[in-house]
Amino acid sequence: MQRLLTGLQPSGALHIGNYFGALKPFVDLYGDYESSLLVVDYHALTTLKNPEELRQNIVNVVKDYLAVGVDPKRATIFKQSDVPEHTELAWIFETLVTVPFLMQAHAYKDKVAKGLEANAGLFNYPMLMAADILLYDIDVVPVGADQRQHIEYAREAAAKFNETFGETFKEPKERILESVATVPGTDGQKMSKSYGNTIPLFGTKDEIAKAVMSIVTDSSGESPEHVYNIHSLFKERGELGALYKANKGNYKASKEALVEDIEATVAPMRERRESISDDEVRTVLAEGAEKARERASKKMTEVRKKIGVMI
Ligand code: AMP
Ligand code: TRP
Repeated sequence: MQRLLTGLQPSGALHIGNYFGALKPFVDLYGDYESSLLVVDYHALTTLKNPEELRQNIVNVVKDYLAVGVDPKRATIFKQSDVPEHTELAWIFETLVTVPFLMQAHAYKDKVAKGLEANAGLFNYPMLMAADILLYDIDVVPVGADQRQHIEYAREAAAKFNETFGETFKEPKERILESVATVPGTDGQKMSKSYGNTIPLFGTKDEIAKAVMSIVTDSSGESPEHVYNIHSLFKERGELGALYKANKGNYKASKEALVEDIEATVAPMRERRESISDDEVRTVLAEGAEKARERASKKMTEVRKKIGVMI
């Protein structure tokens, strides 16, 4: 059976870009694979230094995973920091790749350009992500388009290691659904936690409405392009055509229809989410960590032998 893995950072509330770009593709695929779903808390630490907030975000992300329909019996749900082999392997990869190579990372450059601190963890981020994937011999990684280069980095880390120490790691492939590769935010740019342009996945209906009403509309066209593009995630384009024709010139009506369509998708998941307790989250993470640790420690024993630190 092929192996599937993806991960999300507990750096804030998940938005509909995370849902359509990564979570929904995972949910649609994971039953056909041996699947793992990660909470990458050490990645979040590159930008978030508030322990109370981090704790809360971790619990929230796991609730989101369960609410969107991931069954913890069929996927290993775990937290990166519970498996120390991730940071250990990241270090080994960091000794194999060069600074100029890491300097080419778009995600790093974008984050620094936006004013995030250029800490060494943010710089080395792709090698920790490579470890997340390569430790488990993963075949397929469902992600949004912004992660394409990071998967290339993971392949490169695998190739470098294999070349230096002998065949050990499998080169993973990304799975990017073109239709949702980059979900736009309320300003038409990529939806992102750090751009302040998100529609929260599990906000209240009022929060969702507020975000939708803030979608930037351009009065030059007949239909509001940004509203339409987001709407097309929730409704067939065929049906949308008629709706936007009928609402021509009335942007508010189109936005109200979008709120209702988001609500129809989200409400059942939100209801399920409310029934999940913090204790259930702890149990899921403890069981997931145990399974992941067993696999990771086996792989790391092989790695330690190959690099020469086991005498
Ligand atoms: P992050 O919020 O950076 O942890 O992203 C988690 C996952 O959501 C990654 O697979 C991203 O590629 C995906 N993602 C984030 N924002 C978007 C977006 N605007 N459109 C599509 N996918 C996204
Ligand atoms: N870098 C990814 C993001 O920001 C999160 C991530 C970390 C990840 N490790 C991963 C995604 C492993 C897929 C597989 O979205």
